[in-house]
Amino acid sequence: MAKARDIGDNNSFEMGKPYYCKECKRNHTKGKIYKEHLNFAQFKSQSEEDFEEEDTELTNDKYDDEAELIEAFDELENDENNSEFENQFDDNIDIDNEDIDNNGGAIQESINAVKKLPGVGEATLNKLIKAGFSSLESIAFTPPSIIQDESGLGEKTTTKLIKASMEELNIGFKSAEDVWEHRKNIARITTGSQELDDSLGGGVETGSLIEFFGEFRTGKTQIMHQLCVNVQLPEEKGGLEGKALYIDTEGTFRPERIIQMAEGLDLDHQKVLKNIVFGRAYNSDHQVLLIKEAANLIKEQNIKLIVVDSIIGHFRSEYIGRGTLASRQQNINSHLHDLLRLCDIYSDLAVVVTNQVQSRPDVFYGNPLKATGGNIIAHGSTIRVYLRKGKGEQRIAKIVDAPHLPEREAIFSITESGISD
Ligand code: GTP
Ligand code: MG
Repeated sequence: MAKARDIGDNNSFEMGKPYYCKECKRNHTKGKIYKEHLNFAQFKSQSEEDFEEEDTELTNDKYDDEAELIEAFDELENDENNSEFENQFDDNIDIDNEDIDNNGGAIQESINAVKKLPGVGEATLNKLIKAGFSSLESIAFTPPSIIQDESGLGEKTTTKLIKASMEELNIGFKSAEDVWEHRKNIARITTGSQELDDSLGGGVETGSLIEFFGEFRTGKTQIMHQLCVNVQLPEEKGGLEGKALYIDTEGTFRPERIIQMAEGLDLDHQKVLKNIVFGRAYNSDHQVLLIKEAANLIKEQNIKLIVVDSIIGHFRSEYIGRGTLASRQQNINSHLHDLLRLCDIYSDLAVVVTNQVQSRPDVFYGNPLKATGGNIIAHGSTIRVYLRKGKGEQRIAKIVDAPHLPEREAIFSITESGISD
């Protein structure tokens, strides 16, 4: 694409070529210079800010002409800035697979639904998709400030998009019967242990954030590995026929274990490995970014399970001292909400995180260990499972906090071929 030129420094601008106009403070597009300038003149009285806001106004009568104008500019800019949006996961992993199809059709369908929202043109659509808002659900469930920050759209546009998406999705009050109808259809991933599955009400459920916490070597990472294998199983065997996305913050992901677990289930380990999208998070910012990017991969790659092992590690080591506690909790909270939102948007997605424990010197009775992250994590997770060591390979899991499950214990084992009873 030809670089925009400054008309002030270069008198020999040619009709039909893009250039930067000092008066409008914008690039003018090929072949539309006169029309655009006229448009600008009509709105000149407004401040630059108003001008921006008006441009993205969805139902403004003057919108058609202006929309054309801003879209032309945006396309110019988008072409130049495309490299910013390269995917973090792309370099690391080959996510091709013949068995679990990529979800091209479904993505196109949800994009089409967004495209049909009133006032959404090519430029707005591009901005939304690039920021990861490629479905009605993702727009409806995300706070306006986040959509604005990430897509660069104006406040009015965002508010209208959210309202329109909510109307389209029929979000509002519904009867408890409808909720029950929905919950009856929740899918589950087997953990590999019948007892642990039973205590979880049939396995790790989709649409919820599930936290496994416990001391070192209690099997948190092993369970995460096993779920990445099991999610690929057919439904009748306790899977969801989907891929897993694994975010490793501790450097403890081991493909060797995946191979052993796949072989334990008579699965082709090469295929199983291919169906796990892996991202190593090097610090808390990177971890947050990976989850934001993951949003784009879920539909595209048919991802049915997201694992974050562990959720707190980086935050804990980066924010040291009492003075940083407030901002640490704030950042963890917003990260958890990113994860919870994914559960809301994709009802067939399970999100599982691990958490460490810290000792409570003030406890004399009962268990002196509690999960790190404080109340923020406790309130963010839908179901919490506390793990502790038993004899030898045995581990004990206790459901400590679930809206619909009794507190009960399950005993399972960690063996060479994975989690079992
Ligand atoms: P931290 O990440 O350190 O907090 O611990 P964790 O809870 O994630 O522990 P992890 O899931 O890594 O469990 C490690 C334990 O799993 C080891 O101590 C072993 O007891 C068990 N384990 C790992 N691999 C094997 C294996 O191949 N065979 C058997 N029998 N056990 C294994
Ligand atoms: Mg671990």
